Amino acid sequence: MNFKTTLFSVAFLSLSITIVNAQEVALEKTSLVGNRIVEFIPKGFDQSKTPSLILASEPKSKGKAPANWSLIPEFSLKNNKATAVLNLKGNISLYGGGEVTGPLLRNGQSIKLWNTDTGAYSVEGGKRLYQTHPWVMGVREDGSAFGIIFDSSWKAELITNSDQIIYNAEGALFRVYIIDRASPQEVIKGLSELTGTIKLPARWTLGYHQCRFSYDSEKRVMEIANTFREKKIPCDVIWMDIDYMQGYRVFTFDSIRFSNPKRLNDNLHQKGFRAVYMIDPGVKVDKDYKVYQSGSKDNVWVMQNNGKEYHGKVWPGDCAFPDFTSPKTRTWWSGLYKDFLNTGIDGVWNDMNEPAVNDNDFPENKRLGTMPYETPHKGGGNLPQGPHLLYHNAYGRLMVEASYNGILETNPEKRPFLLTRSNLLGGQRYAATWTGDNYAGWDHLKLSVPMSLTLGLSGQPFNGPDIGGFLGNTDGDLWANWLGFGAFMPFARGHACAGTNDKEPWAFGAEIEKTSRITLERRYRLLPYLYTLFYESSKTGLPVMAPVFFADSKDARLRTEEQAFLLGENLLVVPAFAKNPILPTGIWEELNLIEGEKQDKYQAKLSIKGGTIIPAGKVIQNAGENSFDPLSLFVCLNEKNTAKGELYLDAGDGFGFEKGDYALVTFTAERKNEKVSIKVAKIEGKRNINTEIQKINVSLLLDGKTYISSGTLKDGITISLK
Ligand code: GLC
Repeated sequence: MNFKTTLFSVAFLSLSITIVNAQEVALEKTSLVGNRIVEFIPKGFDQSKTPSLILASEPKSKGKAPANWSLIPEFSLKNNKATAVLNLKGNISLYGGGEVTGPLLRNGQSIKLWNTDTGAYSVEGGKRLYQTHPWVMGVREDGSAFGIIFDSSWKAELITNSDQIIYNAEGALFRVYIIDRASPQEVIKGLSELTGTIKLPARWTLGYHQCRFSYDSEKRVMEIANTFREKKIPCDVIWMDIDYMQGYRVFTFDSIRFSNPKRLNDNLHQKGFRAVYMIDPGVKVDKDYKVYQSGSKDNVWVMQNNGKEYHGKVWPGDCAFPDFTSPKTRTWWSGLYKDFLNTGIDGVWNDMNEPAVNDNDFPENKRLGTMPYETPHKGGGNLPQGPHLLYHNAYGRLMVEASYNGILETNPEKRPFLLTRSNLLGGQRYAATWTGDNYAGWDHLKLSVPMSLTLGLSGQPFNGPDIGGFLGNTDGDLWANWLGFGAFMPFARGHACAGTNDKEPWAFGAEIEKTSRITLERRYRLLPYLYTLFYESSKTGLPVMAPVFFADSKDARLRTEEQAFLLGENLLVVPAFAKNPILPTGIWEELNLIEGEKQDKYQAKLSIKGGTIIPAGKVIQNAGENSFDPLSLFVCLNEKNTAKGELYLDAGDGFGFEKGDYALVTFTAERKNEKVSIKVAKIEGKRNINTEIQKINVSLLLDGKTYISSGTLKDGITISLK
């Protein structure tokens, strides 16, 4: 922590080469590799210098680029460092860049791509964060859009001027992919066609998560868990931060405070909780420690050019670092999870994987906060040997690939849940993310909305901030405001740094406790809708939390809105802090889910879009409880007096859904005269849901009034407006 805020404020690399002018580099090959996706390969591109760590698979040429294709990048080289520029015509709204601070609209912004441990986002004024997403999306005035991937993990800078997108890499030439389609949604789908989507997460991961650095004993963890249940505040997951370990040694448990992890995890499970534990990449240099011994025996560590192990200080003191570029190392790392997870652990949290190194005791001009640029990585398989300058931005991404595989191998019947701090575009295939060490202040509360939206527009839908703020003390007002909308973000977890005040929903007195309960009950009622959105996102790559302009990409007014947001495309969330949000036109009806929410000043306002049916469940205390007794449908008709909506359900975990054990139900509603009938129009999948959903309650929201009726899947529901 103390080192986090001061970590590498400036990084120096001495250049002994003579500066020459940039040289243009011609295109070697341009080809169509997908539906309106063109690949650009510059002359001299060499995959052994810039391997792809971003794409899900090697693109295949489907012929020539369309003759009228207008978006063509220009490449150049200066001192062996490659640049690509895309010149823009017209009035374009720019988005993306992954994890960024600052506005949602990225025109006139620049970021540094060099994954960094940046407490309170303080390094380089917040322009350098924990992750790398070399990706920009542009939306034209007519609502059509394009996106550009710079397929490189070399240290870089991304500049998004209104007339030019510039990518300056500190390494060799790279390929560029451009998608040009009719809407931003179609462009995001194109991004996922190239880089993959998230895997469908287990349903419990969509509940509320409670974390702290650290709940530091079995007793304290159970106190927290019991308090949630006693107070009837919904929660699914309790998190174990580094203090559960024996002297911060990864894959160990403190012999006194966590002497029996199996007992702790069993007790949590009995109360309907899941347990997530942290694993960092740094392995304590300690010849009596099994993980260090086995890693040394298998020769997995990052070595320096002088042949010695690279050591850097992290929580346990001097650490060796697995060289995740080597397939052998990844297999070794995957294997460590077996005994660890067999204690009943449900999910894993990979942190400090930029990788972050504490070099505060170095002179200031020698502080990099990570390994030196020239530190070699072995590579292997498809990856060449290369310096840290190439692999740094992929370190977290390669680590989570190895972790993901280890988790899946240990529990092949369960969907892995992995959270990572560092990642690279495409890494959404392995892990969810959060936005690192924010602080408890209004500016970071407000910033958390555009940050999460931008990650969602950069291929990572499963993300959220530390609700309440990690660094610094939080007061009840800030907490309740943050939870009030944070509970509608895809990943909803409260977290707190060591030395800060308690930040659980009950820590701020009775009034805030009541507010927090209402907020979380609202999230839990929406779980069926959220789970459906995650299912869709796992198929299409579309964000779960979307910017308001997704409601109408032609409406120029909406392009800058970054207080309000959408869940899917049909539910609008306006946080309590929002001042004069710019909202989409058309029919939107207010949605109320819990008694008392309307009178509560901290609750976000929810509205449903005309033409939509939103499925909801009961208030439950954890995602494993029966949600559908009964199922609720909220219906809002459009101008044509119709509405439509989907509900996805399956076993909630495991892979049965891949073999058809799921149901994707399409509901439709239609008004004829004074009657509205709601029925099941289609069920995809083989799951028999008639026993799961016995009763359906429908609320029709029309002109500010609510009409209620109920029925069954088989018979449908009719509402009389008389
Ligand atoms: C890092 C993480 C933070 C965690 C802490 C201790 O700062 O970002 O979430 O609590 O390390 O492990």
